[in-house]
Amino acid sequence: MSDNTINIDGQTVPFLPGQTIMEAAMAAEVYIPHLCHNPEFTPHGSCKLCTVSVNGRSAAACTMPAAAGQQILNNTEELNANRRALVQMLFVEGNHFCPFCEKSGNCQLQALGYYLGMMDPHYNHFYPARAVDGSHPDVLLDLNRCIMCELCVRASRDVDGKNVFGLTGRGIHTHITVNSPSGRLGDTNLAVSDKAAEVCPVGAIIKKRHGFAVPIGERLYDHKTIREVQTEAHK
Ligand code: SF4
Ligand code: FES
Repeated sequence: MSDNTINIDGQTVPFLPGQTIMEAAMAAEVYIPHLCHNPEFTPHGSCKLCTVSVNGRSAAACTMPAAAGQQILNNTEELNANRRALVQMLFVEGNHFCPFCEKSGNCQLQALGYYLGMMDPHYNHFYPARAVDGSHPDVLLDLNRCIMCELCVRASRDVDGKNVFGLTGRGIHTHITVNSPSGRLGDTNLAVSDKAAEVCPVGAIIKKRHGFAVPIGERLYDHKTIREVQTEAHK
């Protein structure tokens, strides 16, 4: 075996020095479910969807560096059941009413629910009171759908150079905040062309006046699984 290989579910996967397990896996078209990871941004390691077993120990594939000889379990019944439970928790922690959401069919949370065989929420819904901010002329912020992945925070800070979004609170009270004196999106310098306006994996940040531009039934995950879509994106 070459020094620069890892083994995922019995498959030998090469890696480059400095790559994470997720990066090596995706380059080899091995899908590891993920939500807070986006290859355009530094890893965050918060959602734990990408948890794999590395030499018998749990690790987040998006932050764990690949190292020679690692024996990794990824696509197993047990790990996928844990992932399904995490997705179910995300569904009940927020207010995700897919039939009424413009992101339906393009939403990574919904697509992961389908991929992981989620048939119901399993847990009791929290029905938290969360704000909807429609103050911006071009972008709607609906915190009911937020999964706290912080991609908008990273995009605004690292790509747009604006720091429009932040995260505050602890535990179940954690939530996204808008950095303006009023706390309203309309009082920031967010532009509809900003990375932060298009990076949200769910329907929490969506552009106004684009509803049904792509009809239901013809959206990203309507005919392909998230595994197929995200694996093809790395080809
Ligand atoms: S608004 Fe969207 S991008 Fe921002 S933290 Fe919530 S889910 Fe993630
Ligand atoms: S994708 Fe790795 S922790 Fe979220």
